[in-house]
Amino acid sequence: MLKDKGYEIAVNQEDRVLTKEELITALKDQNYNALFCLLTDKIDSEVMDSFGPQLKIVANMAVGFDNIDAREAKKRGIMITNTPGVLTDTVAEHTFALMLAIAHRISEADKFTRSGQYIGWAPMLMLGNDLSRKTLGIVGLGRIGSRVAHHGVKGFEMKVLYYDVNRNEEFEKEFGAVFVSLDDLLKQSDFVSIHVPLLPATQHLINAEKLKLMKPTSYLINTSRGPIIDEAALAMALADKTIKGAALDVFEFEPKITPELLSIDNVILTPHIASATEETRSKMSVLAATNIIEALEGRIPPNILT
Ligand code: GLV
Repeated sequence: MLKDKGYEIAVNQEDRVLTKEELITALKDQNYNALFCLLTDKIDSEVMDSFGPQLKIVANMAVGFDNIDAREAKKRGIMITNTPGVLTDTVAEHTFALMLAIAHRISEADKFTRSGQYIGWAPMLMLGNDLSRKTLGIVGLGRIGSRVAHHGVKGFEMKVLYYDVNRNEEFEKEFGAVFVSLDDLLKQSDFVSIHVPLLPATQHLINAEKLKLMKPTSYLINTSRGPIIDEAALAMALADKTIKGAALDVFEFEPKITPELLSIDNVILTPHIASATEETRSKMSVLAATNIIEALEGRIPPNILT
């Protein structure tokens, strides 16, 4: 799309994330008008210092934009855009894939079967838990949290509790959802699913103290951002069975993973792929390119944040 518009494009030729120094070197004195970046590119004030005055827009190919210092961009008059909406269904599906997989022990069962341990049907073999009619706690009722709630209610007749900075009475009416405090949500839910953005106020929102509030039979799912959970505290809570299980697509220090998690059975780990379907990644890249084209043609990009 950008080439078709006649733009000259420089692409990161390394098949990996550039270090901050490499990013600064790559951007300095280049007179770029736009930057198309990924959630793994940290765009802070020092990186912005390497932009020339002609750089108008930073288009992030992600809905989350905690990798960009938006306040600094606003000060400098640089537009920031993200890719909301197009990934909502996919992330909600992945959230349910994780929820079903941990409750039905899919990953453990697959390993068990492949390793030749399945010697015959048995009434108590690999017992898991149902989702149907259980209580689903949604932390963060944005686009993705609401879609997960929709699937829980419509697909599994789950009872939904939610916690957010804003109450949504229309949503409550439609889904029979109940607005509760975070502590009450953690105390009452069978499945807790995190859908808040990463902000100073949400970092370690789920820490050792909060994990202790959860039921020993409950499961924690995270498809938002890793640092929202204190990962060391979660590894301990899983090891000592404070909670029954967890399924994580994001990690506090990704791509590094707290080593204790790797040897625990009651956790499922996926490598930040909740929006990674052919359909959705294509739509995300189209949206990021559209945001750039609109900005460079003097219009307001559809997904402008600052
Ligand atoms: C993925 O994590 C995204 O924010 O789009």
